[in-house]
Amino acid sequence: MQGKQWWLALGTALTLSMSAHAAGDPQAGASKNSMCVGCHGIPGYHTAFPEVYSVPKLGGQHAEYIVAALKEYKSGARKHPSMRGIAEQLSDQDMEDLAAYYSAKKE
Ligand code: HEC
Repeated sequence: MQGKQWWLALGTALTLSMSAHAAGDPQAGASKNSMCVGCHGIPGYHTAFPEVYSVPKLGGQHAEYIVAALKEYKSGARKHPSMRGIAEQLSDQDMEDLAAYYSAKKE
């Protein structure tokens, strides 16, 4: 193989492995996020009970970060009670899909 072709082949291989890594489906995520928008959809929204929490923004967050955070809520490593209750109902695939959806969102 000549020099130039080698680089093209390498570029293609990298592109393929990157898209294969994105396991979440943003469209599936969009249909699953109805139980998140009540809290995360509103800029500056604060839950009133039991205390006033500021709800973190998810749009534009890295997918890996969102999945890791959800797994931590599910396992109990992160202790927020309302997020724990939510994360317990999510499968790994749900988390990947939601993360893909939110990371693609700009606001
Ligand atoms: C009852 C309100 C509520 C609902 C519903 C809710 N969240 Fe949350 N979420 C919160 C609050 C409050 C926090 C901040 C908790 C903390 O301080 O750990 C949070 C934190 C998070 C975080 C961590 C963000 C960060 O920056 O560390 C992620 C990821 C997340 N939520 C995803 C979701 C997803 C996905 C859904 C839907 C399946 C969802 N949440 C539904 C209130 C909610």
